[in-house]
Amino acid sequence: MRRIGILTAGGDTPALNATIQGAVARANRRRVEVYGFIKGFTALLNSQVPHVHLNPLFTEIPELDATRGGTIIGASRAYVDPDDKETMLQIGERMALLKIEGLICVGGDGTLNGLQPFAELFPTVLAPKTIDNDLGLNHRNEPDEWERVPSPSPPGYVYRRNKSRTTFDIEQMINYATPGYATSVYVSVEGVQRVRTTAESHRRIAIVEVMGRHSGYIALGTAYGQPDIILVPEIPVNVGVLVERVRELYELQKNVVIVCGEGITNEQGVELAAQHTSQDPAGNIVLTGASEALRSLLIQHFGDAYFQNFRRAESAKAAIFTRKVGHTQRGGRPILFDRFYAAQLGGKAVDMLLEGQNNALSILQWSRDKGFYVDSYDGNGFRDRWGQIHARYMHPSFYDKELMRPSRIGIEYLLPIFTNAIGHSDTEVLRQSVFDSGSLFRPFHSVNTDINKRIRYLEQAD
Ligand code: F6P
Repeated sequence: MRRIGILTAGGDTPALNATIQGAVARANRRRVEVYGFIKGFTALLNSQVPHVHLNPLFTEIPELDATRGGTIIGASRAYVDPDDKETMLQIGERMALLKIEGLICVGGDGTLNGLQPFAELFPTVLAPKTIDNDLGLNHRNEPDEWERVPSPSPPGYVYRRNKSRTTFDIEQMINYATPGYATSVYVSVEGVQRVRTTAESHRRIAIVEVMGRHSGYIALGTAYGQPDIILVPEIPVNVGVLVERVRELYELQKNVVIVCGEGITNEQGVELAAQHTSQDPAGNIVLTGASEALRSLLIQHFGDAYFQNFRRAESAKAAIFTRKVGHTQRGGRPILFDRFYAAQLGGKAVDMLLEGQNNALSILQWSRDKGFYVDSYDGNGFRDRWGQIHARYMHPSFYDKELMRPSRIGIEYLLPIFTNAIGHSDTEVLRQSVFDSGSLFRPFHSVNTDINKRIRYLEQAD
């Protein structure tokens, strides 16, 4: 292969540029040209196919900086309908005109679903990314545990996970952790710690909502910030037990910090945030409102008198507040763990294309003997028997229902990722850059401005 393409699809993460940089560095060594497609699959749907040559003369363009969050080639949640044969044909022709011989999609489970039709046109592989850490399998035969059951609403069925019959061990996980996850946990932990001191001072109950859709990995990782209670989407919230625990803690320490994943459910399995949902093009549900719903529940259960009797607040509304970590979880400088493995996984994706792999992904594995190592895995191995790829749920054994925090296995899972996740340069950069006096004099200069000057279109291709 002489020339390959790369695109970043779905929601961004802090480690996307690191993945692109790792891919380009490997491609330089192997004398392969890399074209970056602008804004994910959107570029392929555009007859002009906006793209940037990322390694002219096998040298990285200077804008490609692994320590910069986001993606210099832009991202979008656009996907291509595999049944739209005409569009697929046009994309094939555009790729041929550009002399692209293979494609790397940097993405999560939605992208892995989305790249299936491309793998029938030209070699396509995925380099993983997602802050949600939901791309992967808890064990190899997890796809077989999904069932499709009839449903009155369109498309006429829903997927349901059967009870697992596999003995779980963290070494058996496929894609142990995904670039982007560690940084989002780092940001969330800091959020929890900062909320704590203000909750302590004002005798308040704080509910911190973190992202992750229906997977509780980010919430689990916030345990490093020592919230009192962690609620994850995989384990339905038992309101009675929760209220009692909050009461106990509030009476003891005059403040409580609760972390909730955005996809938490009630005991009937219905999302607390469900009343605000909509659908993105990848079919993912957009979840907002979990922390507010939880706050309303607590306000209802405690009532104003409870806080007035203690003379700690004027009302339940004044005593209980919510904070969303929000998109800061997805942005900014990636910490060492993410940068390092993102680059490795990007490099591995290039090797995979050159080895002749197709419809496969680079994965990050972990074993007690070897620690972390990169490997590859067949995309088909992620599909259930109907061809669907499902987001990975956090294994329920990672969570202790009684304590409402990580179990022993959950802690065992977190340790390899986070023990050395922050590098010296990460702390040094904080010291040097946050109060850089130059920032007061200069307006912000977006990397998009520089990249715009490099964008080429199909008509101008060599
Ligand atoms: O999948 C990544 C993610 O950040 C989820 O955790 C979150 O639910 C969603 O994307 C938010 O999407 P958007 O940026 O489109 O609001």
